[in-house]
Amino acid sequence: MRMTASELRKRYIQFFKEKDHAVIPSASLIPQLDPTVLFMSAGMQPLVPFLLGQPHPQGTRLVNVQKCIRTDDIDEVGDTFHLTFFEMLGNWSLGDYWKREAIEMAMEFLTNPKTGLGLKKQILHITVFEGDDQVPFDEEAASVWEELGISRDQIHPLPYKDNWWALGDTGPQGPDTEIFVDIGTPLCSDECRPGCGCEKFVEIWNLVFMSYDRSEDGTLTPLEKKNIDTGMGLERALQVLNKLPSVFETGVFKPIMDKIREITKISDSTPEQMRSMRIIADHIRSAVMALADDQGLVPSNVERGYVIRRLLRVAIRQGLQLGIEDYFLKQIVPEVFDILGKEYDELLRNKTHVLNEIEKEEKRFRTTVRRGLRIAERTLKEKGILTGKDAFMLFATYGFPIEMTVQIAEENGQKVDLDEFRKEFEKHQQISRDATQHRFTSGLADHSEEVIQLHTATHLLHTALHRFIGSSVYQKGSNITKERLRLDVQLNRKLTPEELQQIEEWVNKIIQRDLPVTFETMTPEEAQKQGALGFFGEKYGEHVKVYSVGDVSKEICSGPHVENTGLLGTFRVVKQKRIGADTLRLRAVLEQKD
Ligand code: ALA
Repeated sequence: MRMTASELRKRYIQFFKEKDHAVIPSASLIPQLDPTVLFMSAGMQPLVPFLLGQPHPQGTRLVNVQKCIRTDDIDEVGDTFHLTFFEMLGNWSLGDYWKREAIEMAMEFLTNPKTGLGLKKQILHITVFEGDDQVPFDEEAASVWEELGISRDQIHPLPYKDNWWALGDTGPQGPDTEIFVDIGTPLCSDECRPGCGCEKFVEIWNLVFMSYDRSEDGTLTPLEKKNIDTGMGLERALQVLNKLPSVFETGVFKPIMDKIREITKISDSTPEQMRSMRIIADHIRSAVMALADDQGLVPSNVERGYVIRRLLRVAIRQGLQLGIEDYFLKQIVPEVFDILGKEYDELLRNKTHVLNEIEKEEKRFRTTVRRGLRIAERTLKEKGILTGKDAFMLFATYGFPIEMTVQIAEENGQKVDLDEFRKEFEKHQQISRDATQHRFTSGLADHSEEVIQLHTATHLLHTALHRFIGSSVYQKGSNITKERLRLDVQLNRKLTPEELQQIEEWVNKIIQRDLPVTFETMTPEEAQKQGALGFFGEKYGEHVKVYSVGDVSKEICSGPHVENTGLLGTFRVVKQKRIGADTLRLRAVLEQKD
């Protein structure tokens, strides 16, 4: 039966509403209660307290469409059905109906052409829990399916790893029964079956018989009230209903894929190109949804921000592989808004934020990639190999992601020694810790974007003072807040207006040149030899980090800094004041144009 995404959402909700389920809204993609969980990855996640017994204000039968982001399978994206962002249709019984009724309702929804999906029983395949030493084979589930007309050879008992569902190690969980649709392509091998990993059997729905709570020590305690937790993947259900070869031809993806094809001007894609296009389509959707989620997330190097950064950067890299030279992500974003904006108001509320962040990230990353690729390819050509150390150098000095180095190596039939990479990484973390224990701290209020930008501007100001006023004008102290930088330097007078102008002009010229900011680790002696600014009288550790802004500034520092100067805005010294006989205090700001 052909069906659009909005019809499917409506049909699912309506079906369960008629079976007395209360409709609840999708929760935010960002878990509010648990900061350790990056994104909502299942419809049951926001319901955990209620699945453990707390009464839900809307009763014991619930239904909704939940936005989810799952990154566990991110490397699989590019095949016909794996996605990082997806919509999960779910119905719940909180101690209300149990296994038989849940399966009966599912069967009715799957097969009824008027109120459900109208799928033929012959193409359905069902998996059930085969049992282990703690919980027996789920004969009850198998026999209910059989009673409803699914033959035993369409019912597949599978082990714990396939047919047990839990969100994490602990919490509410239980055996499940999964519904697969045979899309009619040939068997992949003699062993071909649901869950074998091929694309013939598409899993569209999972019914979890949540009957236990697992504690930290691994023991299972039967729940006082048993629950039903289900999840149907909207995109996969659309694929099988509309008899499409992949989720990427469904209505929630097609305009995005068409746009990508238009940008690449590739109409007849190779399998590799197809994979790249799918990755772009998937990743841009996830990044847009995460950025739009009312929490003001931005791409960064930590936690949720890092996931967003990685999604966008992998998408850009795939674009480069397809030969897209121009900025392209922001051209695709409007398609995502058109498709999902109708369902999720937050997209409309946060449109400007989403577009700005994506544009900024593309700008930052293109500079990084161009440089990193050049160096990685040159290294490969010269040495014939990319070692773990090379990968680390690319990562630490040029901000080039390890995933990409691994990919470039693989494309050349090579493997990067990840253990060596990890060792370098750990060594480097130790160096950073040593460095921050020494006096050379940067006086940063926090690691917000504004503070980091002003930190890089401080280096430029320090260098300018050296250059134009004299090499004895060294830094005595620095303090940076979101609003301004403050730099105390060794100088027994104020700067003249001409000197100030010269300094400001030089710093702004460097900013406009969009220079990369990179670092290397070395001995303090080497740093001094290279002319890096620093307190060489001080006792440093064995190694120091030296930050460079292009080839104009070098300074010992523990970071962090921006990746390139282009985003700093306009630099302006707002105040100068003498504090003591030989110290001048300067305050400066970065003015961002709107
Ligand atoms: N919680 C179950 C899942 O995510 C339904 O598959």
